[in-house]
Amino acid sequence: MSVPVGDALRKVASRLGVVSDQPEQEARWLVEIALGCAAAGLLRRGDQPLPAAAAQWLDERVERRLAGLPLPYCLGTWSFYGLEMAVNPAVLIPRPDTESLVELALGHLPREGARRVLDLGTGSGAVALAVARARPEAEMWAVERSPEALAVAQGNGQRLGLAVHWLAGDWFAPLPPGLRFDLILANPPYLAADDPHLPALRHEPQEALLAGPTGLECLAAIATAAPGHLVPGGVLGLEHGAEQGEAVRALLRAAGFAQPRTHRDLAGRERVTSGSLPA
Ligand SMILES: C[S@@+](CC[C@H](N)C(=O)[O-])C[C@H]1O[C@@H](n2cnc3c(N)ncnc32)[C@H](O)[C@@H]1O
Repeated sequence: MSVPVGDALRKVASRLGVVSDQPEQEARWLVEIALGCAAAGLLRRGDQPLPAAAAQWLDERVERRLAGLPLPYCLGTWSFYGLEMAVNPAVLIPRPDTESLVELALGHLPREGARRVLDLGTGSGAVALAVARARPEAEMWAVERSPEALAVAQGNGQRLGLAVHWLAGDWFAPLPPGLRFDLILANPPYLAADDPHLPALRHEPQEALLAGPTGLECLAAIATAAPGHLVPGGVLGLEHGAEQGEAVRALLRAAGFAQPRTHRDLAGRERVTSGSLPA
């Protein structure tokens, strides 16, 4: 028997109380998506019966949430830099921290004039698509090793109507020979195998998180190869762990980048490092 939307909303919120510290908000998002409406529509539908298909969808998502699946995977969508990104367990959930990498990119991309930009390890496509939307004149390229993740990124690009050259493969390997970029960005895996955060991240793809024994392996591979793919004066911007700033600056200096700078997030932690090649 169908229940009114308002009752369903209250029931979902009460069930989610055991796993969430904002159960009413999570319940609203889930019911909105189940009904295909925004918040205002939800308010108007409080007394209407919840359609059977929506009730079933909702029940499945609540069960997954109660089993510990992160909310963005239950919703199937998550917001990044003002873009609604489709997400599933094949991709890392885009983090607000990564918006600093986008800010850094935009600081190096004047509004006028074409620039070629590369996003390595694009995952859901978050960084590439945020830059593509903010700088439509930029020629955007993105590489991803996981075919399942690349499919999510391509779907996001299509749905958002943003053009990116999507390539499957290992870091720089799939790029056309001789192509040079003004700006290379990456939020690569940077956790070490014994990182204490890993258990809390067990639902996210491990190949998006784990770099190797030290955590610096992917950052080092990208920093070392990047000069061969940048124009003179080109810039590399890397997101990394809060304790890795000094090591990443050393990697950039060793690769020939002048005066690498680390940018702090709002909490004062070193999270993004950039450097330019000599002009
Ligand atoms: C930390 S996630 C970042 C995802 C996305 N850029 C973001 O910021 O939300 C790292 C991504 O790099 C990809 N990756 C890992 N090793 C790679 C490699 N050797 N070549 C290309 N992509 C790789 C992973 O599959 C994952 O999608």
